[in-house]
Amino acid sequence: MDDVRNRRIVLAARPQGRPVPSDFRIEEVPAPTPREGEILLQVLTLSLDPYMRGRMDAAKSYAAPVEVGGVMEGGTVAKVVASRHPGFAPGEIVLSHSGWQTYALSDGTGLRKLDPAQAPVSTALGVLGMPGFTAYAGLLAIGRPKPGETVVVAAASGPVGSAVGQIARIKGARAVGIVGGADKLAFVRDELGFDAVVDHRAPDLPGQLHGACPEGIDIYFENVGGAVWDAVFPLLNTFARIPVCGLIAQYSEAGPFPGPDRLPLMMRQVLTKSFTLRGFIQREFADQRPAFYRDMAGWIADGRVRYREDVVDGLEAAPQAFIGMLEGRNFGKLLVRVSAG
Ligand SMILES: NC(=O)c1ccc[n+]([C@@H]2O[C@H](COP(=O)([O-])OP(=O)(O)OC[C@H]3O[C@@H](n4cnc5c(N)ncnc54)[C@H](OP(=O)(O)O)[C@@H]3O)[C@@H](O)[C@H]2O)c1
Repeated sequence: MDDVRNRRIVLAARPQGRPVPSDFRIEEVPAPTPREGEILLQVLTLSLDPYMRGRMDAAKSYAAPVEVGGVMEGGTVAKVVASRHPGFAPGEIVLSHSGWQTYALSDGTGLRKLDPAQAPVSTALGVLGMPGFTAYAGLLAIGRPKPGETVVVAAASGPVGSAVGQIARIKGARAVGIVGGADKLAFVRDELGFDAVVDHRAPDLPGQLHGACPEGIDIYFENVGGAVWDAVFPLLNTFARIPVCGLIAQYSEAGPFPGPDRLPLMMRQVLTKSFTLRGFIQREFADQRPAFYRDMAGWIADGRVRYREDVVDGLEAAPQAFIGMLEGRNFGKLLVRVSAG
């Protein structure tokens, strides 16, 4: 593979607040050659996800940071282009975690073979992959929706939020979405069938949300934090469940956070209204993945779950697209078409 070049995007600098293009650098190096027991992957599609913002910081989290100069981490759909591994043949398509680059070596660990005849392979990065599973596990295991209850979720046109609302409806609950902008609002209401949708960029979010949740909120699937949480909190019913999945409004904030400390007030409400507030990382529910694949494939097949992808072209476009996602500029599961394969 001497003549094949690997293009990769590395972390050039740790962001100060919101990431900027100069925090990334594109490099070109010779593509690696597989040794005995290894395969060479050509990346077809790269997934861009909010968690990558956390990996850009040095701070300790639930996963190790990307080193400065290291290849940005990320889930991919890739094609086996050379194999010295008995379990993989050239031409096979796999789900991998090979990062922001065009080629990568693998010893097969953690790869999942994908069947293009079963579903578009890109869905393994979205509705039938980690984000869809996050919605499924967080909503069903922590939220435990019951018929007639009200479920609220923000980032509702994205891969996690869109699945949360649609699964809530399948379970007989009322789904209320929060989105940024009129296009997303129309999509979530008209195409995904949420019962109500509000725009967090329009004036009076608390008033709008109150109008959309006349019987209060039984489950708030927390994706964003910030001003959305402030609008949700007074509407939470006794025994509300709050799966804390993400806080994207805060990912680029170093703190201390502005405004008065509202923690004592919040804890009083947690106590007196018997809230269940539980953070989670999706892999904690790994034992539920087989049920997820079965249920979600069925719901997609019978049209009860729909999804939208937002595909940008070329690895070079990844930094700008990623920065845009943190500001709500993506519309659906954000993917980068890295190569045609
Ligand atoms: N715990 C886990 O294991 C786990 C796994 C996967 C994802 N997550 C989390 O789940 C959340 C959703 O992920 P996703 O992949 O589905 O992302 P996504 O919806 O594709 O993209 C993020 C969306 O967040 C919204 N947003 C950004 N800043 C906001 C703000 N200040 N206020 C309100 N909304 C804001 C934007 O949508 P609008 O334009 O509609 O506002 C943006 O499009 C993220 O917090 C992510 O970190 C957690």
